[in-house]
Amino acid sequence: MPQDKAKTKIVEVKPNIELLNKFFGQKKLEKLRYHQTNIGGSIHSDGPQLESPPKYLLLACSKEANRGGHSIIVHAKKIYDFLKKEKSSYLKILKKKFLIERRGFDYPNGNIFEKPIFEKKKNFFRFRYLREYIEAAYKIKKIKLAPGKIEALNFLDKLMQSNRFQKKIKLNQGDLIILNNNILSHGRTKFDLNSGDDQRTLVRVWVK
Ligand SMILES: [Fe+2]
Repeated sequence: MPQDKAKTKIVEVKPNIELLNKFFGQKKLEKLRYHQTNIGGSIHSDGPQLESPPKYLLLACSKEANRGGHSIIVHAKKIYDFLKKEKSSYLKILKKKFLIERRGFDYPNGNIFEKPIFEKKKNFFRFRYLREYIEAAYKIKKIKLAPGKIEALNFLDKLMQSNRFQKKIKLNQGDLIILNNNILSHGRTKFDLNSGDDQRTLVRVWVK
């Protein structure tokens, strides 16, 4: 699947030094797509800004970071099951629609849409989440995110950061992982920039 407005199908997930030097602090989070940075922490699904996000995500490592840059894989379906049992009030909120900025693409009907974070139908499950794009959408629209929604998002982030639902692995040169992007979410630990053009590089493909 195309991954940007130029319809690129094979994307290098690699810090963009030029853009990183251009924006600082909060602006960095607002202007750059996650794959262009060396920040860690934000656990997400890929393509949440698409009507139909990719079902599969392939990540191949062509250059690892000297330090850091571990891949974090989080089982979103297990989180769903946990919430259903233990915190159904939060799950109810997370199944409601949230505004999402459709960053990196051009849409004739505007650059923001509304989607639930968890979708569950009979034989269908989808987790759609990238918190920065949600917060950016509310900021653009000048709408305050309701306190109940913020609380549910904070709890979700806490679960995603817990060891109970995640695995951490370091991909080395030549390694490839394939993730089901509907039921797993992912992130990474922050990493040091290598020198010059020798940056951590993962090659990413999205499959319908
Ligand atoms: Fe990603």
